[in-house]
Amino acid sequence: MNRFHLLTPRRRTSLAVAAVAAALVGAVAVTIARAADTAPAKKKLTGAELYAINCNRCHSERYPTERTKDEWKTIMTHMRVRANLPAAQAKEILKYLQENAGSNP
Ligand code: HEC
Repeated sequence: MNRFHLLTPRRRTSLAVAAVAAALVGAVAVTIARAADTAPAKKKLTGAELYAINCNRCHSERYPTERTKDEWKTIMTHMRVRANLPAAQAKEILKYLQENAGSNP
């Protein structure tokens, strides 16, 4: 049996407020869940992108062709520390630089 009509007006109001609040919380939760569902998958950056992001903070970028594969290896051991890069990112950058490296004259 519905006893809602037996409640004082004040109790009715507070029950109604509680119901509206609960509905709002539910709606917000659903919205957040949907947003998380549709968020684009986190894209893994390529070596070229990592190079462009990290290696021109202190000096301008060099073209990969300006150094040989061996030179890039040596440069990366120094610059990786300067740029404070995690190993995996340094590896991607080195791969990009070496794949596009110049050859000794
Ligand atoms: C925190 C600053 C800093 C960051 C970040 C940095 N470098 Fe450097 N880099 C330097 C400095 C300073 C020199 C000058 C030579 C030296 O002192 O070692 C240099 C020199 C170089 C050189 C040789 C000089 C030239 O102009 O040809 C190359 C190539 C180079 N960096 C590549 C890189 C690469 C690749 C990265 C990204 C992994 C990088 N750097 C990130 C500071 C930085």
